[in-house]
Amino acid sequence: MAFDIDMIKGVYANMAERVDKAREIVGKPLTLSEKILYAHLWDGTPTKAFVRGKDYVDFAPDRIACQDATAQMALLQFMQAGKPKVAVPTTVHCDHLIQAKSGAAADLKTANSTSAEVFDFLESVSNKYGIGFWKPGAGIIHQVVLENYAFPGGMMIGTDSHTVNAGGLGMVAIGVGGADAVDVMAGMAWELKFPKLIGVRLTGKISGWTAPKDVILKVAEILTVKGGTGAIVEYFGPGAKALSCTGKGTICNMGAEIGATTSTFGYDDSMERYLRATDRSDVADAANKVREYLTADEEVYANPEQYFDQVIDIDLSKLNPLLNGPFTPDLSTPVGKEMTKKATENDWPMQVEWGLIGSCTNSSYEDLSRASSIAQQALDKKLKTKAEFGINPGSEQVRFTAERDGILGIFEKLDAKIFTNACGPCIGQWARYSDPKNAPKNSIVHSFNRNFAKRADGNPNTHAFVASPEITAAIAIAGRLDFNPMTDTLINEDGEEVRFEEPTGWELPPKGFEVEDAGYLAPKEDGSSVKVVVDPTSERLQLLDPFEPIQNESLQNVKLLIKAFGKCTTDHISMAGPWLRFRGHLDNIANNTLIGAVNAFNQKTNLVKNQLTGEYEGVPDTQRAYKAKGIKSMVVGDHNYGEGSSREHAAMQPRHLGVAAVLVKSFARIHETNLKKQGMLALTFANENDYELIQEDDIFNFVDIADFAPDTPLTIEIVHADGSKDTIKANHTYNDAQIGWFREGSALNVIKKQNAA
Ligand code: F3S
Repeated sequence: MAFDIDMIKGVYANMAERVDKAREIVGKPLTLSEKILYAHLWDGTPTKAFVRGKDYVDFAPDRIACQDATAQMALLQFMQAGKPKVAVPTTVHCDHLIQAKSGAAADLKTANSTSAEVFDFLESVSNKYGIGFWKPGAGIIHQVVLENYAFPGGMMIGTDSHTVNAGGLGMVAIGVGGADAVDVMAGMAWELKFPKLIGVRLTGKISGWTAPKDVILKVAEILTVKGGTGAIVEYFGPGAKALSCTGKGTICNMGAEIGATTSTFGYDDSMERYLRATDRSDVADAANKVREYLTADEEVYANPEQYFDQVIDIDLSKLNPLLNGPFTPDLSTPVGKEMTKKATENDWPMQVEWGLIGSCTNSSYEDLSRASSIAQQALDKKLKTKAEFGINPGSEQVRFTAERDGILGIFEKLDAKIFTNACGPCIGQWARYSDPKNAPKNSIVHSFNRNFAKRADGNPNTHAFVASPEITAAIAIAGRLDFNPMTDTLINEDGEEVRFEEPTGWELPPKGFEVEDAGYLAPKEDGSSVKVVVDPTSERLQLLDPFEPIQNESLQNVKLLIKAFGKCTTDHISMAGPWLRFRGHLDNIANNTLIGAVNAFNQKTNLVKNQLTGEYEGVPDTQRAYKAKGIKSMVVGDHNYGEGSSREHAAMQPRHLGVAAVLVKSFARIHETNLKKQGMLALTFANENDYELIQEDDIFNFVDIADFAPDTPLTIEIVHADGSKDTIKANHTYNDAQIGWFREGSALNVIKKQNAA
């Protein structure tokens, strides 16, 4: 489906030269991750070795994928770049904005009506700028990407954390914020800290009730939710080769849950089978020609301790099915008796009310077929399902094929709800309750990836446990959290004691994949005549105006907006939840700016002193009052300011409202870069203790802003309410190009100017 074989061949044509050169420079055998990274340097053939976990490197990704929630602001920004087409193959996937309620047909109809303007906007922008568009109902972004675009040895970025799923087909695929995607769409390099490398050696073979999902649930138990931070996890060993391609996708997908930059596997026969089954034999043929470059050098896997920063060993023959949760994906419990103990001790509801199968993590044909083998046994053995079943197929191709092969029919006989091929309950798009905040305590089991409080249904009392699709099916049928299908029996409708046999399934559909309308719309070859229409009265979408540069003169008499106390993540700066609705409308979403940040002077959120009136008001209201008077303001913060997601809204909103500078003890790097890209000042206290000098009524003068230059701290004069003054130094990390962004008003303004020249 519209994948670009010439682009892929181009990547492979350069691979040998670049990887051989990298090996020579690094001076030792290379892991697969290093091969892919060095083959995708922005400057082409490598000229130096990079230090893992330290050096920032410019890369040239091969592809971009965006989902409908994040694509809105990304595309609105891209439209500012003044480019006729995206520079790199890009696709948009409508999967997040579809609520699961009654079943696929009705739910899709509702979404197509309630989010019509967003879908129409995304479709027309895609058509205009050469972006492939996947309609609502076409499938979940990462399943569609795996089926159509992922290729061994490629590099992809995507505006969704589970972009990493494409590691199942041997890619280095990384989730990024919209601002990064826009840069690459506009033809710029993409910067990443050269990752550390974690090797996971898989020996033995999974069998019986154990599934690929259990591999990553085990890795999450070992590494915890932070253990993969800043690293690529590379799986290898005989156990890896024995896993299916979509199973590898599951494992890579949940690498996001351990904080990993991404995860990947070397090219092998399972990937070749998957490529051929998904109508990409030409990609398989091309990959076969460079096979040795699509996996690590032999010596690396023979002595991994010498080449990875950390090595983990898992014997798949000894791995048992796990249930991870509740509320965190790294809390592992083996299926069975141990759960009886833990659930009793922790007062987790033992009765299971829903079993949900799907999400980008586990919605492949293989997943559905294995889970359906358990559902079929329930029918054959006259078992009544105790919990309700919900199924989200990963793509229309999977759904169509699974329906043709009778798989969905089996679930339907158990009264399962077949939801749209979309994210649905995985992202809280599940109309389970009318009043989720006051809904009862309960347990659910699902084959998704995230299980934080409220994630699935908005109910803080829902205890969500993550398991493989087959275990999810068995537990849903039994209706008990501590049911062990390997040893326990159930009583059927005739009062007989029955037991499940091991699940069975197909790695790939025996009769091949089939689909009538995959839901793909190719863009026009020449989109210049396509009009992008945004209703000026829309509350969800708003075309962007370029940011005006912040003039030196306006950096005198700058007022303090808020001195944030303690943790201030991107979620504190731009909250999610109901605000997601306004992701494409900068002015509306700006009404949540910093409402989660704690004011250091009163320890309250969203209550700061308006220096114009002396009254205490909400942060956005106060800032809008300053903006109305043309007064610039500054935000002061603590350590690691802006940690969390790479959400560019956290930089765009303050910028839109007139905040000129953010001065903190330290930044989360992505947020610091995002502030720079939006043409703001991102500064750190040269002396951390100066944070204490900042008072509620302070005014700031940037005395030497006219001399803003790389490697030279700025001087800020602080004028306190009593007229006394302090002068402090503020460090920054701007290089010449980034100072250019500040002087022009934003990075996009610079790109636009270059295009016009
Ligand atoms: Fe969608 Fe859930 Fe994946 S929200 S992209 S199915 S993590």
